[in-house]
Amino acid sequence: MDLTFRRLRQNPHVRELVQKIHLHPKQFIQPLFVVEGISKREAIPGLDGVYRETPESLIQQIESDLKEHGVSKFLLFGVPSQKSISNFDYSFTAAQIAAVKKHFGSKIWLAVDVCLCSYTEHGHCGILNDSGDHLINRQTVEQLAKSSLQFAQAGADCIAPSDMMDGRIGAIRDLLDENGLEQTQVMSYSAKFHSGFYGPFRVAADSAPKQGSQPVQLSDRATYQIDPHCPGDALLSSLRDAEEGADILMLKPGMPYLDVLAELSREIVKPWAVYQVSGEYASMRVMADQGLMNFDRACLESWIGFARAGASMIISYGARDAQRILNQLES
Ligand code: PBG
Repeated sequence: MDLTFRRLRQNPHVRELVQKIHLHPKQFIQPLFVVEGISKREAIPGLDGVYRETPESLIQQIESDLKEHGVSKFLLFGVPSQKSISNFDYSFTAAQIAAVKKHFGSKIWLAVDVCLCSYTEHGHCGILNDSGDHLINRQTVEQLAKSSLQFAQAGADCIAPSDMMDGRIGAIRDLLDENGLEQTQVMSYSAKFHSGFYGPFRVAADSAPKQGSQPVQLSDRATYQIDPHCPGDALLSSLRDAEEGADILMLKPGMPYLDVLAELSREIVKPWAVYQVSGEYASMRVMADQGLMNFDRACLESWIGFARAGASMIISYGARDAQRILNQLES
């Protein structure tokens, strides 16, 4: 065997020819937050360049993403002002979806996150039982399906449930189909781990677990999200979600779970998305701000890792930087 490798690394031409992974700005999805009851858009600690948008600033942001950053795919999080424990009102988020689709139509692809954590008083992803020690699967799934239908009717191209209840993909798919929405895609957060990397998001989405008017005994999301020690669960729940009708599967967070992404994308032949979550993105930002690394290079390297591990699409708070970073560093 030839043990010399540097001959093929000596100039950009030959490096381009041997390169196996090719990233393109078209593979990126930009998360967006739209918040009810704020008069001006708000910065999010740790997520420079990403905002809690008002309905008006949301439209302007998408406009600039499309025109200046070449981003046309989005994942929207609606944050209502009214929190409750069981009777949720999805109309604020639905109205924003309708407004965005009315404005941009098929120029953009709009996925909408479906979960109850921004709607509940206690910040958990579903409906708590009376003693507050677990989420009631069946009632939660009913709500998730109900909100999915409203969001799809408002014009969402894709429904993305992130709650981690059992059986929600099948319930959502059935309800969409019964209502003539068989074209609406479902992207399941099928391999979502119980992670310490969701911090900045919970401020943005107003969804950190907290005490409310009812007893809450769950201090975190360990009873519903996947235990990082149990990669097999990620495979089983992704297989199940594919079986129940998910069009796209997702792994989240990205960087600490590349091994799982590589294995799952080999095992399950479906389009795979990876979510580079708020804490991953913020750690790169903070390091760069301290002069400890080059932000663009770090982003690029993390994204190459996702593609190598088998993701065909990347959800990242840096999606709107992707065109610039890729043009600068990949050419
Ligand atoms: C809501 C949800 C979370 C994220 C996406 N949807 C947070 C959580 O589960 O606590 C995380 C996204 C991020 O950190 O960027 N269930």
